[in-house]
Amino acid sequence: NIDKIALTEITKISDPDGRGNLSVIEKDVLPFEIKRVYYLYDVPSDSSRGGHAHKELKQFLIALSGSFDVVLDNGKTRRSITLNRPNKGLLIPSGVWRELENFSAGAVCLSLVSAEYDETDYIRNYDEFKTFEF
Ligand code: TYD
Repeated sequence: NIDKIALTEITKISDPDGRGNLSVIEKDVLPFEIKRVYYLYDVPSDSSRGGHAHKELKQFLIALSGSFDVVLDNGKTRRSITLNRPNKGLLIPSGVWRELENFSAGAVCLSLVSAEYDETDYIRNYDEFKTFEF
C-alpha cells in the first residue's frame, strides 16, 4: 500500500564544534539485509529513471546530495515524494512501480537494496505490472 510509504529519519550526528554532520545506517535499521549498493548521479533534469517495479526486491533511497522526486504507483493511484535531505530515506517495498524525476543539478541518489542484480526480478512493462499478482 503506497499510502503508508513515508520518509524515514536517518540518524544524524551533528558535530558539536561545527564540523558538519554525519549520518549512519546500521544493518539492523532496515527491514532487509543490504546485498547491494548503487547510486545515480549526473542525471539530466529532464530525464526519468526507474520506470519499473520489482517482484521481490526492496530498497531504501537517499538523496545524498541535491533533490529529486519519487513517483510511486500501485497500479491504481500515484503519489510523488520529494527527497532532498541526506538524513531522510524512502523505503520502497516490492510490488510498487516507481519513477524518479526532476533531478536537481548535482543530485545523487543512493540506493541500498535487498538483493543482487537480477533482471528477472524487474517488471518493466506498466501493463504487465498492473495485472501482475504480487
Ligand atoms: P535500471 O535499474 O533500469 O536503472 P533505473 O531504474 O535507475 O533507471 O538499470 C539501468 C541499467 O543498469 C540496466 O541495463 C541494468 C544495469 N544495472 C546493473 O547492471 N546492475 C545494477 O545493480 C543496476 C541497478 C543496474
